[in-house]
Amino acid sequence: MTTRNSPEAWDQRYAESEMVWSLEPNQFVVEYLSGLPTGKMLDLGGGEGRNALWFAGRGWHVENSDFSPVAVEKFLQRAEREGLLELCTGTTVDATQPESCVTKPVDLAVVAYLQIPAADLAAAISTAAKSLRPGGTLFGVWHARENLEQGFGGPPSPELNPTQDELRAACDALGLKVHTVTMRDRFFDSGGQERKAIDVILLATAAA
Ligand SMILES: C[S@@+](CC[C@H](N)C(=O)[O-])C[C@H]1O[C@@H](n2cnc3c(N)ncnc32)[C@H](O)[C@@H]1O
Repeated sequence: MTTRNSPEAWDQRYAESEMVWSLEPNQFVVEYLSGLPTGKMLDLGGGEGRNALWFAGRGWHVENSDFSPVAVEKFLQRAEREGLLELCTGTTVDATQPESCVTKPVDLAVVAYLQIPAADLAAAISTAAKSLRPGGTLFGVWHARENLEQGFGGPPSPELNPTQDELRAACDALGLKVHTVTMRDRFFDSGGQERKAIDVILLATAAA
């Protein structure tokens, strides 16, 4: 059976339209991470690679990893079109599996809208954390649990929308230093109407 969050289901979704997500990076990725010095980064569950490609455009070496082969292929094709292929690695892996990324260590790991149950998300955060160099940065953004009642979009099930406490606990278990866990409003256009989504942001670093 093809479950909603399976590589097959995501492959189908990615194959159906030219771009499922925007070409532009997530606004909070830009806001929180623009000031970092150029280095190596991993985008875990990176989909079509909008965030990784933004970093590659700024000279970073990037690995965009996702369990959907169609998403990873779309990322590599866009990297080629934009002349960024030399800086880009695409990996088809399950983020919840340890040791699932090839570029290590990285200066920055990004996890954006990887809306999976808490135990799986903790495993994915562990994968991201283990890819970091000492002192490296982990950045995450998700549809927050509060978005279910007060925001627009995102998965309809509570267990797929992390709470601030769950994110903190996942980081504490890995010995990460948490700098920020906070909710932020994000406004966007949907069918000509302005909508508000409530995101939860995580910024943490590995021990130096
Ligand atoms: C909502 S999309 C977000 C994509 C991208 N991070 C972005 O912000 O544009 C979620 C992505 O997570 C991927 N995904 C879901 N579960 C995964 C898993 N266990 N391992 C790797 N990728 C996964 C899906 O294939 C999909 O590309």
